[in-house]
Amino acid sequence: MKLGLNSYHSYEHYVTDLSRTQEFYEKVLGYKTIGNSTPAAEKKDGMQRLVLTAGRDINVVLSKPLTEWSVAAKYLSHHPEGVGALNFRVDSLELAYNFLEERNATFLYAPVTETTPQGIFKQFAIATPLADVCFRFIEDTAFQGFSPAFAMTEQPGEFRSEHHYECIDHITSNVKSLQPLVAFFKDVMAFETFWGIAFHTNDINPDLPVGSGLKSAVMWDPTSGIKFANNEPSPPYFRNSQIDIYLNDNHGAGVQHIALRVPRILPVMHKLKSAGGQFLPAPASYYAQTPERLKESGFTGKVSEPLADLEQHSILVDASEKGYLLQIFSLVLGRHYGDTPGGPLFYEVIQREGDDGFGGGNFRALFETIEVDQIALEKTAQQLPLETI
Ligand SMILES: [Fe+2]
Repeated sequence: MKLGLNSYHSYEHYVTDLSRTQEFYEKVLGYKTIGNSTPAAEKKDGMQRLVLTAGRDINVVLSKPLTEWSVAAKYLSHHPEGVGALNFRVDSLELAYNFLEERNATFLYAPVTETTPQGIFKQFAIATPLADVCFRFIEDTAFQGFSPAFAMTEQPGEFRSEHHYECIDHITSNVKSLQPLVAFFKDVMAFETFWGIAFHTNDINPDLPVGSGLKSAVMWDPTSGIKFANNEPSPPYFRNSQIDIYLNDNHGAGVQHIALRVPRILPVMHKLKSAGGQFLPAPASYYAQTPERLKESGFTGKVSEPLADLEQHSILVDASEKGYLLQIFSLVLGRHYGDTPGGPLFYEVIQREGDDGFGGGNFRALFETIEVDQIALEKTAQQLPLETI
């Protein structure tokens, strides 16, 4: 028996302001709106929803509550805006259900089959250790369209974003305690360990009076290639960890970022920035150290992109014996919008050139750039009190 994960169907972003989020996805990220909730679905679900796409398997549902009892309202009563559902296509809903039932998954609702003029659409959902984030499983092989709840102007897969996104490379989540989440991915989802690291700024400079650390485990489904990176905060200065700060900002565990893979990051950065996209700056010293760091990684090839161009856009570069990768991180959406309810979710854009992993230097670079962002917010300027008695 196997789960039979096929690909991402979509993910759901719960929002208070539909139009500003739609504008962010369309104007900044290059998504296109291709559907909206039907009046019948709005009445049933108590939500107004839009479907935006950036590729066949890169679809976001924006959901705004219309009633207090809706799923979106419940999510937003506990958290700022954020991603509260990840939806996966499976080969067979029945087999996926049996597989997860045997592995003690917590079902939020039993399998539902809808027979419509567009075909047969099947789904169920499970709870996760990520607080109010659920996983939905969808069988749509005999369905023409996105979901029966939406009226579509076009179907996912027809629109090709000018950013040329290839896929969701990975999704990263933060929790206060990592082990239950790793156990969930292993024991319930049958994922395998892909990569792991523990890193603390005090590893670099033990004399710092304050610091930030995290432990991370990347879990994956080898058949579909779907990867989840998962983080927890680490001591010393547990409460200064960027992960604990996220947990406070998000009022609990949740999705920290979604990474979109592109074939060429430089032209995409021009588009993203000219559209008003804001990204984390990389420290100037980072680029001075890059050639040496790449050499130490065991990478013997050549980075095709000029380092000066990467520096101009604050694109991070990392490598392993297998190849290199380029990546950049957006500001959290709350900062993009200029208000806290926008939430701590952010986006990553990544180009892989042979390096299919999460190299240590790469991860460290991510950590350091986020540190820079938080220092800018003056959140790590002083030690926060700990849970001592
Ligand atoms: Fe990432």
